[in-house]
Amino acid sequence: MRQPLVAGNWKMNGSREGVGELLDGIARGAAGLDKVEVAVCPPAIFIPEAQARLAGTRVVWGGQDVSVHASGAYTGEISGPMLSDFACTYAIVGHSERRTYHGESDTLVAQKFVAARKAGLVPIFCIGETLEEREQGVTEQVVAGQVDAVLALGGAQLLGEGVIAYEPVWAIGTGRTATPEQAQEVHAFIRSRVAVSDAEGAGSIRILYGGSMKPDNAAELMAQADIDGGLIGGASLKPSDFLAICQAAG
Ligand code: 13P
Repeated sequence: MRQPLVAGNWKMNGSREGVGELLDGIARGAAGLDKVEVAVCPPAIFIPEAQARLAGTRVVWGGQDVSVHASGAYTGEISGPMLSDFACTYAIVGHSERRTYHGESDTLVAQKFVAARKAGLVPIFCIGETLEEREQGVTEQVVAGQVDAVLALGGAQLLGEGVIAYEPVWAIGTGRTATPEQAQEVHAFIRSRVAVSDAEGAGSIRILYGGSMKPDNAAELMAQADIDGGLIGGASLKPSDFLAICQAAG
């Protein structure tokens, strides 16, 4: 049985003034939600605050990205050991915004997956096609290539130690959610792709959906057989919305 996970990706949002209220609101509301795992991934600068406020609650926290290097002369980067030092559970790798705006390749993302695991973090490994790719009918090829890059570098066992997040790029921040059927179809394909190299791992790996998930569409999406939770952008910045999604997962 796969425990659902709902993770908030705050992206580059939040302020020193507002971060405490947001974290406390989520922690309070998540207290009774014992069927779902709840995580937040704030900007790195707020991670110490997340640790201070969330330690001892049901909510875990993580980074939005991780360097492939453990330390050294890499200005601006945050390493896996640094995230672990602040008790992060998760690190998002390969988010489409990193792939698009920072030119991250499938290979680099796979290296980040490995770096996160080396530091004891659980990667939330984002994959997904653009609108153009969907219209060209190559969605399966695209997500297969993204998954295969991790398999090639780290093998099936390593992949199985992470969480996959299917985030169709055209659904992110657009209000245009994939229908439950569209999402389920790709989730089932991803699981079958993992099963080629690891049948057992494919049954246990969690595959989250991300892309305009909101309180009013979360339950139907997460009711699909291969959708094991959500990676939430915009709605994770409002505790009532985020918690309603968490509730829908359990
Ligand atoms: P939205 O929920 O704002 O569409 O963002 C999804 C996402 O990119 C989560 O990583």
